[in-house]
Amino acid sequence: MQFTIAIDGPAAAGKGTLAAQLAAYFSLPHLDTGLLYRAVGRMVLEGQTPETAAQRLQPNDLNPSGLYTPAVTQQASRVAELAPVRAALVDFQRDFASQTGGAVLDGRDIGTVICPQAAVKLFVTARPEVRAERRHRELISGGTKISYAQVLQDVYERDYRDQNRVEAPLIAAPDATMLDTSDLSIEAVLERAIIAVKQFSSDRL
Ligand code: C5P
Repeated sequence: MQFTIAIDGPAAAGKGTLAAQLAAYFSLPHLDTGLLYRAVGRMVLEGQTPETAAQRLQPNDLNPSGLYTPAVTQQASRVAELAPVRAALVDFQRDFASQTGGAVLDGRDIGTVICPQAAVKLFVTARPEVRAERRHRELISGGTKISYAQVLQDVYERDYRDQNRVEAPLIAAPDATMLDTSDLSIEAVLERAIIAVKQFSSDRL
């Protein structure tokens, strides 16, 4: 069985950090699938059509530098609503997930659409205010001038779009382990996730 760990959840819930740490802990490669939509979003802001951008996406477009501006972030969640964009990105994600030894992928639809057979599924959430606070801190420390109120508004808008779109809406897979990170330290989240993964390993591997 392929050892895929699928991590989904809303914006700034802490899933990216968790995915990177789990990948390091289990020595697995990690793909932050949000980067694909962000890269397509940036290409659209530069003038390409969403579908063409998704079809032309190259691994070196996924360098995170410049992909976290508020404009790219909002554009990413708009292109993510489009069926042809999502379809063009499926193979890249599935190929990554199926590499020998396994992989960790985080996003919105990994456990439901991209890797429904994943060995372990985690759904990472946190209250919107907590997520906005975290994202605000990140943006400010990266030099972006933006108010907390604006970041909170962006979080609500993205949540709404991600949860209500027709294509691959953000939803927990029925067999996902839920992790609310609102009142947990990064270390505590990692500890719980490792327990969930090991639980799976001892149950089924
Ligand atoms: O995870 P991140 O915030 O970087 O994702 C940016 C946007 O890409 C999300 O708001 C979402 O609309 C979209 N996305 C998606 N499916 C994924 C990963 C990200 O729709 N698997």
